[in-house]
Amino acid sequence: MSYFEIIGGRKLNGEIEVKGAKNAALKAVAAALLSKEKWVIANFPFIEDTNRILEMVEDLGVKVNRGDRGNKRDGERSWVEIQAKEIKKSRLNDKLTKKLRASIILAGPVLARMGEVRMHHPGGCVIGKRPIDMFLDGFQKFGAKVKWQNEHFRISAKKLRGAKIFFPKITVTGTETTMMTAVLADGETILENAAMEPEIPMLAEFLNKCGAKIRGAGTPTIIIKGLKKIGGGILKLIPDRIETGTFAILGALAGSRIKIKKCDPDHIRALLVNLERAGVRFEEKKDELIVWGAKNLKPVNIVTHEYPGFATDLQPPFTLLMTQAHGASLVHDAIFDGRLMFTDILNLMGADIIMHDSHRATVHGKTKLHGRKIASPDLRAGITLVLAGLIAEGKTRIENIYQIDRGYERIEERLQKLGANITRRK
Ligand code: EPZ
Repeated sequence: MSYFEIIGGRKLNGEIEVKGAKNAALKAVAAALLSKEKWVIANFPFIEDTNRILEMVEDLGVKVNRGDRGNKRDGERSWVEIQAKEIKKSRLNDKLTKKLRASIILAGPVLARMGEVRMHHPGGCVIGKRPIDMFLDGFQKFGAKVKWQNEHFRISAKKLRGAKIFFPKITVTGTETTMMTAVLADGETILENAAMEPEIPMLAEFLNKCGAKIRGAGTPTIIIKGLKKIGGGILKLIPDRIETGTFAILGALAGSRIKIKKCDPDHIRALLVNLERAGVRFEEKKDELIVWGAKNLKPVNIVTHEYPGFATDLQPPFTLLMTQAHGASLVHDAIFDGRLMFTDILNLMGADIIMHDSHRATVHGKTKLHGRKIASPDLRAGITLVLAGLIAEGKTRIENIYQIDRGYERIEERLQKLGANITRRK
């Protein structure tokens, strides 16, 4: 099993490019199944999660062509082509569904195209409870029948009808899945209390280019007029805002000066405001962010929130940042109930973090971190442990790095270019 070995304490300097957004890529692959025509998804990140969703699509009999160093598409060397002329089966692969929570997003397009979808309950990140009730309610509102037997769902509908759906809780993937399904439903769908993450208007804009009729994506109310079919084209993914934010925190923790390229600082506004409050110096341009290492960090309390609030995916690296601030800061993850568990590992490395309950912890700083043998519990905690290793004294060995490879493409090579001493070992 591969692991990362990190020798901490080096000052990092230079440039790092942000890849296309993982959570936009996953949804774009699913949405490509709505069309019989070819979709090219450019600026595509080749990471474990996107590999898994492409494998799932191939398993359904859909043609996928991967280009990760060939001809440029829409100015990008990294792209995939997907053409779902036909979908050969309606059963999602069990093994892959259990590996990837986001596999649920395939349910809507497959249901819309095939009149049926069968799948195992999706697995994925261990960051707390991940129910799918709002997806199932949504499918039922479109007129589908949902049957549950032996950990499997069968969702079926001869015809999907447009519906009015109010989400009792804001859900990112739930919003995206119902929005996609509504594109091929009969009549008008209104989604209320919808999520507003930037990946949603990106997808809606492209679906509209393919002929769909979606209004309001990026606001809490999305209105979709259903159609019989949509076309294809080239979709360029937006930069990954979680990578951007993670690299900004890395810059504050370990950088002398780090330039983050090909990013959109507007997508991480809530983080930037809090970095400023913590005393981090940065300069932003349209698609660049320069961050300087922070000397005297101040403690800042944060509460995670749906977009445009503070992203839960950036909570773990921000919690690490707070271990280096002078004083106490309260971290409240309001979205998931398992996302602070990794603080135990930071404590093993020398941090002083006290959990009050599954959602809240107080970080007491400033603490010196020491290298340890640890394992990555999930994706965002995993990258946080990489950052922790980079500022810790001595050697850190991180196991279970599949979890990190799920979301960050060849991260060690990109960090090495900044001067980090990190090696992938077998
Ligand atoms: C998306 O997950 C992201 N994943 C997550 O990123 C991210 O942490 C999360 O949004 C919040 O921003 C993808 O886009 C693939 P939700 P999602 O539905 O859509 C509850 C990462 O590290 N809920 O918005 O699955 C749920 O339990 C990943 O890249 C229900 O109760 O999250 C949570 O408390 C991890 N019933 C809240 O809603 C449902 O049917 C928000 O979850 C669905 C969700």
